[in-house]
Amino acid sequence: AFPVAGVKVARETLSTMIVDFAGKELANHEYTLTNPSMTPEELAEEILRALLMTSQKAGMELSDISAIGVGLAGLIDAPRSFVHWSPSLDRRNVDIGETFEKVFHCPVLVENDANLVAKAEQLFGHGRNLSNFIVITIEHGVGMGIVIDDKIYRGTRGTGAEFGHAKVQFEGALCQCGQRGCLEAYVGDYALLREANAVIAGEPLTDLTTLWKMAQSGNPLANAVFERAGKMFAMGLANVVNIFDPELIILAGGRAAFDHLDLKEVKREMRAHMIAIDVEPTEVIAHQWGDEMWAKGAAAYALDGVAASKIRE
Ligand code: BGC
Ligand code: NA
Ligand code: ZN
Repeated sequence: AFPVAGVKVARETLSTMIVDFAGKELANHEYTLTNPSMTPEELAEEILRALLMTSQKAGMELSDISAIGVGLAGLIDAPRSFVHWSPSLDRRNVDIGETFEKVFHCPVLVENDANLVAKAEQLFGHGRNLSNFIVITIEHGVGMGIVIDDKIYRGTRGTGAEFGHAKVQFEGALCQCGQRGCLEAYVGDYALLREANAVIAGEPLTDLTTLWKMAQSGNPLANAVFERAGKMFAMGLANVVNIFDPELIILAGGRAAFDHLDLKEVKREMRAHMIAIDVEPTEVIAHQWGDEMWAKGAAAYALDGVAASKIRE
């Protein structure tokens, strides 16, 4: 009873999950998007179609869903379900909660996607017994979820915890946010392809799997691309450790770029940049779970919302 849905909006897909009130999974679905950047109304329609399929799989009506949690990349003021900026939307400053509720006729809670991975780690993953930890996701973009004293820390307006846009280079590479020199512009999927295409001759590469295969079969140029990204990423991690000194850093997200970082090497480099050289370095672990786990975090967030409104009633 009281099923809720979680949705993770990625560039090419929507991952959805319906869970019951106890958090038990009833169905999940992977839906293909045709457009990575949409109007808020178009995104609502796509989510509607994806959830129709998911509710069918769960053997229920869409109208049975009592709340929806949505994980979206970008600057999200979660308590207001307000989007300052998202790479998935074609405009800024959108009251996305209102748009969604017109379509779904139930509470829709929107939160930054990486924050929801942190939530999933906290409830179901490696954060279960920890009060202070950090989740970093690497896919097309680079995301972060910060848990301090058991709570997700979002900043004052929900625009914080944007590790992907930590600056690592003055007047550096162009980032999808419009600025230059962001970490993401060196380690995100699109950055790796850009770097590779700048040095590898022939047909431009369009997917990371091909580039990874080239690296594995010994192509020195392809290998150099991943190596440099690993070094940039390690520098970024050292900044995180120097600022937060968390109990654990969890590298999550299931996409290609992530497999290609040599974790041992990244940790060694991170350690070399740490200011606290005489303490044990923060533990960094990789936890690869697919997009459906992002959706599970989103569903858990919706459950929280329902519980909070029940308490208010
Ligand atoms: C966005 C973040 C998001 C991350 C992962 C970055 O480009 O700025 O808000 O969490 O990608 O999707
Ligand atoms: Na975040
Ligand atoms: Zn940026």
